[in-house]
Amino acid sequence: MIIIFCGSMPKLVIIYGTGSHNTERMAHAIEEGARAEGIETMLKNVNEANMNDLKDADAIAIGSPNYNHAMMPTVQKFLNGLADIKLSGKVGLAFGSYGWSLEATDEINNKLASYGIEMIEDLKIKRMPGDEELEICRSSGSLLACKIKNKEAICAV
Ligand SMILES: Cc1cc2nc3c(=O)[nH]c(=O)nc-3n(C[C@H](O)[C@H](O)[C@H](O)COP(=O)(O)O)c2cc1C
Repeated sequence: MIIIFCGSMPKLVIIYGTGSHNTERMAHAIEEGARAEGIETMLKNVNEANMNDLKDADAIAIGSPNYNHAMMPTVQKFLNGLADIKLSGKVGLAFGSYGWSLEATDEINNKLASYGIEMIEDLKIKRMPGDEELEICRSSGSLLACKIKNKEAICAV
């Protein structure tokens, strides 16, 4: 008997900007949490990413630190470029490190929601994430993975 496997593994793509690696640390923890659930992941700095990276993603996580009350211009440019591809039906997460205000994650969240992405609760960590904060990031990664693995299931963190 020949069995042909046609399905592909659910995939999370994580794209982030970072100045001093705090948001990057969050990105890696999100990936760890998702991988622990057995899904495929791709993680890229926004400087190496392009919109085609998102085409076969079931979930996307976009991160930026807050600089001058806004997301990084590189992340803003990347997000604006996504208007041309179909993103509705995907699950999303906005994340980022901040010092004293929350504009970047709020803006990412709103932009991705405007593209028809189902957003889970965004992830904002003050300055450098410690062990506890990294665990929270892993939980968000696991939640994204759960949502795309079992589309009908109720996923808890
Ligand atoms: C020039 C500069 C501007 C900043 N502006 C803001 C800001 O407007 N709001 C805020 O919450 N944090 C601000 N921060 C703090 C950063 O968001 C914080 O250090 C964050 O952890 C950086 O994340 P990253 O390591 O991923 O770059 C600023 C930091 C710098 C150096």
